[in-house]
Amino acid sequence: LIAVLDFGSQYSHLIARRLREEGIYSELLPYSVSVEALRALQPRGVILSGGPASVYAEGAPHVQRQLFELPVPMLGICYGLQEMAYQLGGSVEAGTKMEFGRAQMRLLSSVQSDHMYRQVWEGVPDVFSVWMSHGDAMTRLPPGFVDLAATDNCPHAVVAYAPTANGTADAAGASTLPPAALRIGLQFHPEVTHTEHGARILANFCRHLCGCRGDWSMEAYVAEAMQAVQQQVGVSGVVVGAVSGGVDSTVAAVLLSKAIGARFHALFVDNGLLRQDEVDEVMQRLSGRLGVNLRCVDASSRFLQALQGVTDPEQKRKVIGRTFIEVFDAEARRVQAQYLLQGTLYPDVIESVSHKGPSATIKTHHNVGGLPAQMQLQLIEPLRYLFKDEVRQLGRVLGVPAESVGRHPFPGPGLAIRILGDVTPHRLAVLRAADAIFLEELRAADLYHCVGQAFAVLLPCKAVGVMGDCRTYEEVIALRAVETTDYMTADWYPIPYAVLKRMANRIVNEVRGVNRVVYDITSKPPATIEWE
Ligand code: XMP
Repeated sequence: LIAVLDFGSQYSHLIARRLREEGIYSELLPYSVSVEALRALQPRGVILSGGPASVYAEGAPHVQRQLFELPVPMLGICYGLQEMAYQLGGSVEAGTKMEFGRAQMRLLSSVQSDHMYRQVWEGVPDVFSVWMSHGDAMTRLPPGFVDLAATDNCPHAVVAYAPTANGTADAAGASTLPPAALRIGLQFHPEVTHTEHGARILANFCRHLCGCRGDWSMEAYVAEAMQAVQQQVGVSGVVVGAVSGGVDSTVAAVLLSKAIGARFHALFVDNGLLRQDEVDEVMQRLSGRLGVNLRCVDASSRFLQALQGVTDPEQKRKVIGRTFIEVFDAEARRVQAQYLLQGTLYPDVIESVSHKGPSATIKTHHNVGGLPAQMQLQLIEPLRYLFKDEVRQLGRVLGVPAESVGRHPFPGPGLAIRILGDVTPHRLAVLRAADAIFLEELRAADLYHCVGQAFAVLLPCKAVGVMGDCRTYEEVIALRAVETTDYMTADWYPIPYAVLKRMANRIVNEVRGVNRVVYDITSKPPATIEWE
């Protein structure tokens, strides 16, 4: 394990990612983690991330001083380097020239000398391009440190603790670190793709200085995760979990089912707000092909009744969330579960630390309508160390079919938030039919995987039309397709006109009650992906 201590940089999670891509297992921890807790994890190395604060500012985030005494190699990145300098007797000041963006890094000839740090640059040329993002800079090296590289603006762009390299006498005084301690600091960001050889530098640090083997793989993760679940629930524990047909809940369910068989009870709640054929498809895939012990509860009339007359989007979410919990709770009691499976992912777990201090909240995320906190079930979260694309990779390793692994996300409140206004059985039928045509044509045009999410929306208004010499006054369907990687921002996708034309023609011809189709050409922001 490599522990990455997070000082709140927007790039921190990328450090963990780059390492995992190199087969090195790493976890992101808040900078405020205690030295004892860190020691208990027995990391082979520690990386201090960047962060938005200034080390000398009031309230700036600092690690405990004893952390630097841990007998493992440490790498500081940007703020992490400055924190190292600040705590070990160097100086950091606001730079006269801020450095943002690309810079040319030149390795000094001293790197080629015989010290350990030479291995960090294995396979890296003497001059390479890096990504800088800092206002402060180190102005005096801590005792025992030497320069390894510089840019035009930054003489201390890479520094390392090498007391034998600069002799015993040091103008800055004596270091408290043992002579063999390995401490290296980078002013640039090796974790971003704009830095050439960045992943190599990180991997070299972990392999050559920390002794990581780099053999972490998804297959290894499956074995470990299954073992962890088996240990947590023992020989008789019963686990309940909701599946939605989405990637996360499907992969989590398959993993649990492989780990503890039928003692895992998967529940698929048909809330009446699902898309066309969704219930059958999910049931077939999970209980048929993947052998998950899955039960479908048809609670559609209960949900639709609860939604009667509800038009406010947030109110719809509340009603659906509450009803879901009631249905799920009854099922958990029926099977006498002691554990609850949740498909929580790593980005939801990462404590969003900021320079405001360690009181920042942990984000929680629940795609199925809200965590039944009052149920007093112990949580099982086998995906909590994985990023979204790693969950997809895990799914592939577990044999989850491509249709599930590559599926667009579908919101917990389902079609209720895509029917603007009243949710009625008739309006659900109209939207379902239009949405199915839209997705069918999108797939036929080979565009499904070009977009992050695509769906139809039923508008809360009627429009005048003419069909066969007669005036009509009918529903309007809006189509939405967006390109996005993180769903935080999104751009509308330019579906070719010919494809849009076919979609619109089919919808007005095949869906009774619709006489107009419009295409949404707004990005997020300022719009959101969903209309409600
Ligand atoms: P917005 O509309 O906020 O959507 O741009 C971003 C992503 O979140 C999904 N979404 C939801 N998912 N419950 C969910 O489980 C919800 O209430 C909800 N609202 C939006 C949306 O589909 C998109 O993927």
